[in-house]
Amino acid sequence: MLKKPGAIIFDLDGVLTDTSEYHYQAWKHLADDEGIPFTHEENDEHLRGVSRRESLMYIIRGRQYSEDQIQEMMDRKNRYYHDLISHMSPNDLLPGGRALLQEIRDAGIKVAIGSGSKNCRMVLDLLQITDLLDGIADGNSVVNGKPAPDLFVYAAGLVNIPVAVCLGVEDADAGIEAIKSAGMQALAIGPQERFHRADKILPTLANKHLQDLLD
Ligand code: BG6
Ligand code: MG
Repeated sequence: MLKKPGAIIFDLDGVLTDTSEYHYQAWKHLADDEGIPFTHEENDEHLRGVSRRESLMYIIRGRQYSEDQIQEMMDRKNRYYHDLISHMSPNDLLPGGRALLQEIRDAGIKVAIGSGSKNCRMVLDLLQITDLLDGIADGNSVVNGKPAPDLFVYAAGLVNIPVAVCLGVEDADAGIEAIKSAGMQALAIGPQERFHRADKILPTLANKHLQDLLD
């Protein structure tokens, strides 16, 4: 049982929408261009929740590229990602997602986003949920990405709620690590074996109510 929080800070990719699959497909496209082997399992195990640059560093590990080439590859991956998300609409929001966010607000709990993505605001607009959010911390907000606690601490500051009474929700183990390091309660979304420090794990957030998150 989790204690009732003053704010719930949601990760975006893989929690409120399935964009984690699009991130994988865009990286896979880039890896194929470069002739680098890269699998779905590697993506799940090493790249979930990890920043754009660190993801690329994992994919090209052991290979020599200049900083200009690294920049170009990050831009190219982002173009592939934009192509994949361009058709997104409110239908791509987690089933019951809008009702859940509304229910949390109605309970007097702040709702914030803690996403490492620089595309976060674009995706939130495509999903049409920006109006339901009290604060947005994204890939432009802090220098140190997950598993550093900075993004979640920053999000808590945006909604003016002490970290000790915040609940973070994440699909990545790096994200759960970030939430716990920030001193928050952590709710993990996904298979049990993915997570090490979560306070509670749910296989999916689909069609869940506030009470399901806390029970
Ligand atoms: C995270 C995703 O939310 O954002 C990662 O889980 C992604 O897969 C990271 O690499 C950075 O995203 P972006 O949109 O800034 O390239
Ligand atoms: Mg995620």
